[in-house]
Amino acid sequence: MKYKKRTHTCGELNINHIDQIVTLNGWVDSRRDLGGIIFIYIRDRYGKTQVVFNPQENKSLHDLASTLRSEFVISVTGIVKRRPAGQENREIATGEIELIASELTIINKADTPPFPIEDEIDISEETRLRYRYLDLRRATLQSNLLTRHRLYQITRKYFDENNFVEIETPILMKSTPEGARDYLVPSRVHPGKFYALPQSPQTYKQILMVAGFDRYFQIAKCFRDEDLRADRQPEFTQIDVEMSFVDEQDIFKIVEGLIVRMFMEIKGIQLQTPFKILTYKDAIEKYGSDKPDLRFDLSIKKLNELLTGVEFKVFSDVIKKGGVVSGLVAPNCANYSRSQIDNITEFVKKLGAAGLVWIKYTDKGIDSPISKFVSREILESIVNRMDARFGDLILIVADDYLKAHNILGALRIEIANRQNLIDANRYELLWVVDFPLLEYSPEESRYIAVHHPFTSPKLEDLELLDTKPEKVRARAYDLVLNGNEIAGGSIRIFNRELQNKMFSLLGISESEAQKKFGFLLDAFKYGAPPHGGIAFGFDRIVMLLTGQKSIRDVIAFPKTTSAMSLMDDSPSEVDEAQLRELHIKIEK
Ligand code: AMO
Repeated sequence: MKYKKRTHTCGELNINHIDQIVTLNGWVDSRRDLGGIIFIYIRDRYGKTQVVFNPQENKSLHDLASTLRSEFVISVTGIVKRRPAGQENREIATGEIELIASELTIINKADTPPFPIEDEIDISEETRLRYRYLDLRRATLQSNLLTRHRLYQITRKYFDENNFVEIETPILMKSTPEGARDYLVPSRVHPGKFYALPQSPQTYKQILMVAGFDRYFQIAKCFRDEDLRADRQPEFTQIDVEMSFVDEQDIFKIVEGLIVRMFMEIKGIQLQTPFKILTYKDAIEKYGSDKPDLRFDLSIKKLNELLTGVEFKVFSDVIKKGGVVSGLVAPNCANYSRSQIDNITEFVKKLGAAGLVWIKYTDKGIDSPISKFVSREILESIVNRMDARFGDLILIVADDYLKAHNILGALRIEIANRQNLIDANRYELLWVVDFPLLEYSPEESRYIAVHHPFTSPKLEDLELLDTKPEKVRARAYDLVLNGNEIAGGSIRIFNRELQNKMFSLLGISESEAQKKFGFLLDAFKYGAPPHGGIAFGFDRIVMLLTGQKSIRDVIAFPKTTSAMSLMDDSPSEVDEAQLRELHIKIEK
């Protein structure tokens, strides 16, 4: 097929090009026939341009134009003219001009697409994913992927300027201990043996520190077989970082520099540094979450000390068992109806709460279903402790500490959404630090590492390792943006005795440790520098910087929540012969 190659893109022409003869290549975006004249928009990645076919000027050309349909690929040549007064389109860059066509080639026809290539379309995500190449033609997705591209470039430039070395680590590797299930790849050459796809390059980047690279980064694909959500994909991208001879502050500084630059270059927003720091303990205590959204003020308050001696069983039973009674103010919600209250009660019950106690505080006084069981003075002291104002609704949950606070943390966000307390143009970044090192798993009846087994305990907590392991804090940190965990990392253990102690606390025997991470432990024998690092959830950062609600909208070819790729229909069955080569039998 011979066609004239473009002289310009479809987003380029403006009044400076008037009277020039130009050629555009692209897709037919739309076609309108007005009073016998055909107007089309021709579109490419750069924009769209109006093209005019006038039957008075060229009948056969007009006839050909009348066969154009959406998404045909065309080449069109013509002269650039100013649009007649009143017909300009201020929304697009080319809106002051149009192209008066003199030549048209249909390079390729297209079937009628299953949905129009427009931004506001009402179709299922399944259809969008099945025809992802068409979905990706839409302006929002084009712009999301272009922002993603810019963020890769900003990242590479930033780390290069700061003396980091970009190093690729293997995709076929030994299983990593990030806590999710591995994706496994059977070996043909070694029957019965498997590679694992990396849940992260964790062990390799630590080995690169032993190898003396000092500052490493990588834009790395990671694979985790876990339950999927709007912010989780089975394969996702990390900006992975590791540094030698550093402490937490050095890592924070490097990370903050990158985030500041991303916000400046993508959004033109100057962020203030250093970012806020909150301990895990305070985060749970005040916000009921280890990734609190600080764009609004609501905080949780413990009420236990006000309730000593109270005989209301819902409270006293929980307090006796060592639990908490904690509450949250829902501002201006005292006028909630019975059904609205039922509705938020349902909300907390779904999260596992036994119930929800409410107190309405207005200029008429205090109204609460518990006023039959709890004295006026105590109700007043609760109102005071909660700093409630006339018109507020106090919501109270009684349960085990962590459960009660997690439920209130979710309720905090629910109330903020319902009451429109969240400013979508605000960006609140904070570090959450001092996570617990270990967490007891009743199912496995052993401790498991909250971060991963190479995370260093806080030195001042070392003594507790033998006596109260659950009280030991880790040198681990997460970076949180508007309630999303966008990065996580830690200072690592580099001392062999401490590492062995950690394994024994985790119930990993010496031989098991040797089998799983022997290569890393061996490397540590040959002079491991103190080191630490972090990994960013790159997809989440792109999602937040483009204002999307799902990471699927910033990944070119994402999977569904059931880990399917609808476009190429994977996972799919394979030939008997392939299975035989891999020494695999499928049990139906
Ligand atoms: P972590 O497991 O916290 O740390 O992961 C780092 C960041 O990656 C993002 N993330 C995900 N994004 C999309 N889909 C997923 N399934 C998914 N899982 C995690 C999150 C998270 O903050 N090796 C350590 C880092 C280190 O210690 O240096 C690690 O991978 O934004």
